[in-house]
Amino acid sequence: MKRLSGRLYEIAQDIIDERLGGGYDPEDDLTMALIEARHDGGPLPAGMVLGCVRQLIVTGMVAPSVFIGNMFVHLSRDRALQEHLRRRREDVPAAVEEFLRLYNPYRGMARTARRDTVVGGQEIEAGDPIALVYTAANRDPRVFDDPDEFVLHRPNITDHIGFGRGTHSCPGAPLARMMFRITLEEALARSEFDLTGDPGMAKWAEWGTNHVPLEFITL
Ligand code: HEM
Repeated sequence: MKRLSGRLYEIAQDIIDERLGGGYDPEDDLTMALIEARHDGGPLPAGMVLGCVRQLIVTGMVAPSVFIGNMFVHLSRDRALQEHLRRRREDVPAAVEEFLRLYNPYRGMARTARRDTVVGGQEIEAGDPIALVYTAANRDPRVFDDPDEFVLHRPNITDHIGFGRGTHSCPGAPLARMMFRITLEEALARSEFDLTGDPGMAKWAEWGTNHVPLEFITL
């Protein structure tokens, strides 16, 4: 794991070195923007820029792949919904949003409380470590009716926190939503699809599939 983690650092460093060679506009290129950013009069520490680029590679790879698998498992098991979306492509973005609520790959992220507070009756002291369990919040029965059911066009779907909230909410959300919409549109247009075996679950922190044996059925 350490070796492969090191390889990701190398890939990130290559991306940075390419930018340092010139020809990239910080307005268009995130890595270049990080290199050019100034804080307290100086550049960001090189290690921080490297860590950010590496983090973007990891987040861009893992969550989307497990989540796409989750959507395909659901649609293989609910052929009526699959058919509905094939006929009504305009409903695909709403379906993606409900999938994000139902099958969020992030079980949790960590925070440290900055001050004493009370959340849901639970006292939290400054300095306490907190796990934000997005998957549980997205199925909170006090917020979502029939929380374990897929409901297309839920009236309060925007209450889901699949991409987090606030300062650290997911900067990749627009890209991820576009990726999922296009993936589903392309797959639905191709043919009907179904599982040919049991999906395998990833053993990563992200919740979801790491392989989904699928058959595209020629109509
Ligand atoms: C299924 C797809 C994805 C989901 C569900 C997801 C969800 C999340 C969540 C819940 C957070 C934490 C927010 C918080 O701490 O409050 C996060 C952070 C982040 N995501 Fe995503 N994400 C996805 C895809 C992506 C993609 C495609 C990228 C980039 C290419 C990305 C980049 C990031 C980064 C850099 C952060 C850290 C932000 C920060 O700490 O300020 N994510 N994401």
